[in-house]
Amino acid sequence: MPIPFLASLVFDGLPPWMPEPMNIVKYTTAITAIAFTKWYTSGTSNPAECDLHGRVVLITGGTSGIGAVTAFELARCGAQIVLLTHAPSDDPFLVEFVQDMRERTANQLIYAEQVDLSSLHSIRQFATRWIDNVPPRRLDTIILCGATLTPPGSARTETAEGIETTWMVNYLANFHLLGILSPAIRAQPFDRDLRIIVPTCSAYIASPPLDKVLDKKDWSPKRAYARSKLALMVFAKTYQKHLDSYKRPDKLPMNARIIMVDPGLTRTPGMRRWITRGSIWGLLVYMVLYALSWLFMKSSYMGAQSILFAAMDSSVGPGRGAGGKLIKECMMVDCARKDLDDEEVAKKLWEASDKLIEETEKLQAAKRAKAKKEEEKRKEEAKRVEQVEEIEALVESIKMGKAKEAAAQKGGSKGAKKSKSGAKTAAK
Ligand SMILES: NC(=O)c1ccc[n+]([C@@H]2O[C@H](COP(=O)([O-])OP(=O)(O)OC[C@H]3O[C@@H](n4cnc5c(N)ncnc54)[C@H](OP(=O)(O)O)[C@@H]3O)[C@@H](O)[C@H]2O)c1
Repeated sequence: MPIPFLASLVFDGLPPWMPEPMNIVKYTTAITAIAFTKWYTSGTSNPAECDLHGRVVLITGGTSGIGAVTAFELARCGAQIVLLTHAPSDDPFLVEFVQDMRERTANQLIYAEQVDLSSLHSIRQFATRWIDNVPPRRLDTIILCGATLTPPGSARTETAEGIETTWMVNYLANFHLLGILSPAIRAQPFDRDLRIIVPTCSAYIASPPLDKVLDKKDWSPKRAYARSKLALMVFAKTYQKHLDSYKRPDKLPMNARIIMVDPGLTRTPGMRRWITRGSIWGLLVYMVLYALSWLFMKSSYMGAQSILFAAMDSSVGPGRGAGGKLIKECMMVDCARKDLDDEEVAKKLWEASDKLIEETEKLQAAKRAKAKKEEEKRKEEAKRVEQVEEIEALVESIKMGKAKEAAAQKGGSKGAKKSKSGAKTAAK
């Protein structure tokens, strides 16, 4: 069969149904280029697969995008998952999300606790509850996927506590959470492989230096995001040093490690909001050009691979060199900025963050105390008004009773008079 076909190609030329050779070359090149681009942009898969039964994982941002896939995959491997969520744990959508995750992973140990990363108070409430446990609760992995990315062109916003939102959610919330959880982290037994995974983004490379204050007129969503990620990375490295400097009572080395991870460009709800500028028109354009984002960005599943690698692979666990390393495409890479290792920058950042938290918490506590007092006053006033109304109603009813009584007496005396006069007429 092939020989007669090849002979006919040589002697008679191409059959009419076959495309021109140039077209074949063009199509093949185009398909190969697309396949190669897709393969390249999809990134690397996590080679580590492990049994995580018995391990406890705290994760922020576990309800969307990369965080949701990470939480799902860890639950599938048997880990107990505590989702730290924006919404309260009885929110109907969240209840359904958790139930669905339990069914699909065949793992019932998935819970949600509310931690609003835009509120220092909410973080403190959760973290103090966690460290108040005696004996300390088991903790194996902390994954800090919660983040916000303001769409380009949007205005600068502040949280209810008065801190710029991107700085608060992406950096300060993590600083505050890990700061309070520090005793629980240090109290883990020596044989625990504790990993704190800090997702970052290559946007940090273009960030303005941390000692340059990003005031309102210099603020842009891109700069704010990049700066928050740079600060997070500087903090991650300093936090590793802070943990390492702790002298354990058993004199053994620190078993907690910070691992930074760059997931790469990923199609997630947060990224979609950024690309579409959070507008309907942007969303329409995105849908029309979906093929481009499919080609150049990873799926959330692939975006989660480096985080899963950081959580599972034995090559990055305790005893494998110093912590505070960066992972990208499931391998260790170097950080691209020198100021990440600048102790002076780190010290200033730590002190400024501590000060900001202290001042904000004091102010908010005073506000809450004032609001509580006003609420109590309002309740007391309402109670007093209620009592006055009750007394007035009582007085009114007494008055009415007396009036009725008087009327009855009047009626009675009139009746008596009538009956007297009746009796007189009868006697006549
Ligand atoms: N996507 C990318 O291309 C990319 C690239 C590099 C790095 N990263 C990093 O990877 C991580 C995950 O990114 P993603 O794109 O998957 O994020 P995402 O889809 O935007 O999800 C962000 C998560 O953070 C939570 N969150 C936001 N504000 C919160 C708040 N105030 N309190 C509590 N939770 C809050 C969200 O919860 P709600 O939905 O309930 O608000 C959501 O679960 C982030 O750290 C991001 O910076 C992403």
